[in-house]
Amino acid sequence: MSHTLTIALSKGRIYKETLPLLAHAGIVPKDDPETSRKLILDTNHDDVKLVIIRASDVPTYVEYGAADLGVAGKDVLMEHGGEGLYEPLDLKIARCKLMVAGPVAGGEPVGRMKIATKFVNSTRRYYASLGQQVEIIKLYGSMELAPLVGLADRIVDLVDTGNTLRANGLEPMEHIAEISSRLVVNKASMKMKHQRMRAFIDQIAEAVEKR
Ligand code: ATP
Ligand code: PRP
Repeated sequence: MSHTLTIALSKGRIYKETLPLLAHAGIVPKDDPETSRKLILDTNHDDVKLVIIRASDVPTYVEYGAADLGVAGKDVLMEHGGEGLYEPLDLKIARCKLMVAGPVAGGEPVGRMKIATKFVNSTRRYYASLGQQVEIIKLYGSMELAPLVGLADRIVDLVDTGNTLRANGLEPMEHIAEISSRLVVNKASMKMKHQRMRAFIDQIAEAVEKR
């Protein structure tokens, strides 16, 4: 495997938006992860493979060197934390915002505010930076439901068009971070496969510039 470049991607939004960037680097997958059950996809290059994993698992695969490179949202990287990865490139895809949201005209909750989110670490850091004591309730999805059923006062979630919030009677309240997807790189691979990795990163950077 030492000459192979393994690239970790998640299905859906990130895969779709990364494909044109890979194409610019001359890399075309032989299968479509939306229809194939394969988790390792061959490409038109014998020495380039794609591994298809959950978005939140990408930093782990890359940090441990199971993939040389990967594409992950800044939200996922902020949650993952640590110094285990290089993050050489903002791909400027899958752009959205990490925000606090709550019921429209909901007012200030009394007592310690309850915040439902899957972004527990980012939420903890955000409220700590404000010096505000909150109770964080970990969820794995559909955060918008939590204030509607009295599970939480507010949520911390990703917002793009705001349609999901609006459809559930919620509104954006505070901006925590601008989010886009980043190319992440295993530190050891960057040393061991330097030329190949550098050439790939440069081609992807060029594709980002040209978009
Ligand atoms: P997992 O499978 O681990 O639960 P997920 O379902 O959040 O992850 P996606 O919905 O494919 O995975 O989102 C992948 C990334 O795309 C997120 O980490 C975020 O950076 C970005 N993203 C999420 N929602 C939006 C959106 N509505 N608009 C733009 N970008 C988004
Ligand atoms: C994401 C995010 C929000 C929504 C925001 O969910 O979790 O719910 O997008 O986008 P909007 O502001 O344009 O409505 P996604 O659509 O990825 O579904 P998911 O819950 O399966 O991740």
